[in-house]
Amino acid sequence: MARVLIRGGRVIDPATNRDEIADVLLEDGRVVSVESNIDARDAELVDAAGLWVTPGFVDLHAHLREPGQEYKEDIASGGSAGAAGGFTSICCMANTDPVNDDPSVTEYILDRARHESPVRILPVAAATKGLKGELITEMSALVEAGAVAFSDDGKTIMDSDMQRRVLEYSKMVDRPVSVHAEDLTLVRDGVVNEGPVSTRLGLPGNPAAAETISVARDIHLAEITGGHLHVGHVSTAGAVTLIREARNRGIHVTGEVTPHHLVLTDAETAGYDTNTKMSPPLRSAADVDACIEGLADGTLDAIATDHAPHAVHEKDVEFTEAPPGVLGLETALPVVLELVRSGRLSPAQLIAALTCNPAQVFHLDAGRLVRGAPGDVVIFDPERRWTYDPAKGYSKSRNSPWAGQEMQGRIETTLVAGVVVYHVDRGVLHP
Ligand code: DOR
Ligand code: ZN
Repeated sequence: MARVLIRGGRVIDPATNRDEIADVLLEDGRVVSVESNIDARDAELVDAAGLWVTPGFVDLHAHLREPGQEYKEDIASGGSAGAAGGFTSICCMANTDPVNDDPSVTEYILDRARHESPVRILPVAAATKGLKGELITEMSALVEAGAVAFSDDGKTIMDSDMQRRVLEYSKMVDRPVSVHAEDLTLVRDGVVNEGPVSTRLGLPGNPAAAETISVARDIHLAEITGGHLHVGHVSTAGAVTLIREARNRGIHVTGEVTPHHLVLTDAETAGYDTNTKMSPPLRSAADVDACIEGLADGTLDAIATDHAPHAVHEKDVEFTEAPPGVLGLETALPVVLELVRSGRLSPAQLIAALTCNPAQVFHLDAGRLVRGAPGDVVIFDPERRWTYDPAKGYSKSRNSPWAGQEMQGRIETTLVAGVVVYHVDRGVLHP
């Protein structure tokens, strides 16, 4: 019997309202008990004194690029980046090549994950064939193959009747529809937030209304269908308000926000750095503020990375030409810990947004430290400083707005199913 005792850390498990110094005992891949002074002499010891111990993080939104774009990332490198970032469950988006719109692709991803990834990989299947917005995928077959949600992320389903039917069908298989909410008729060729910054830089603007109009439509469609709408990467104050009102009216809407949309504004784009280009774009300070407020009051459930690797040669071009997206898995924790340091979120609120909340949104058995739960745990030092160098990270790509910057908060150990898969000094250890 494999037993691991994580001793003496500050255990924060929002699902059980726990925040205290305690030991965590894992046995045969699962949590056995969380108490003070557990006596388990035969167990492998992990000393967590002075560190925080929480459930492994759950990412609802990452692009792992396999199959088809393995030069940007693959399941092994993306899974390793996740382990190094404290993520033990990663939901991977369907905009691969081929698109994950067929059970054979879903099965391929899961098979690769079983052999190559140190952490759990949970495929999100496409909502429509080829992400074209024309034909609904075979949702029940995809769920049977292991899909946890549906999304055409990267693209917005612009045909409202199609979106209505996607929400209707998803209800029959009891899975959420995660939307990339941007009205493309308003986005046009916009590459930065429309406002003073886009004017000053002379770059085409992408207005906040592109997001709010799309979210408003989808909320309406969720209301008439009863489907579960999950709004991906919320970036505007307007969308936060719409989601808050919809939830108050009892509509089944959940939402996520990325680390970058919680701490960066469009001002970051002043140097035309393509590593500040993503969809949706970085917004105004008021939008950032509203997104933080949305997390604090529970309007937004989760922090999701939208980890979107792109190769150096693809990003090293004119701002207007570069593909949108930034890395997220290896920097998420230190970036969002800033919200605790500034007093905007409590530790429990932050950890909930990384663990039990996302698990609940996608109905995953993850994100809490209770007897019988999977032994997925992350141990980190919230104070420790380090300098982030993407070239030394696990992702195959380098496109981070935080490259070369000092970070505060460092993952020390990540365990999946009771096995150490990452240690700060030893690196990724599995498989
Ligand atoms: O910035 C983004 N990058 N947003 C998306 O929706 C897609 C993603 C990607 O696949 O690169
Ligand atoms: Zn997206």
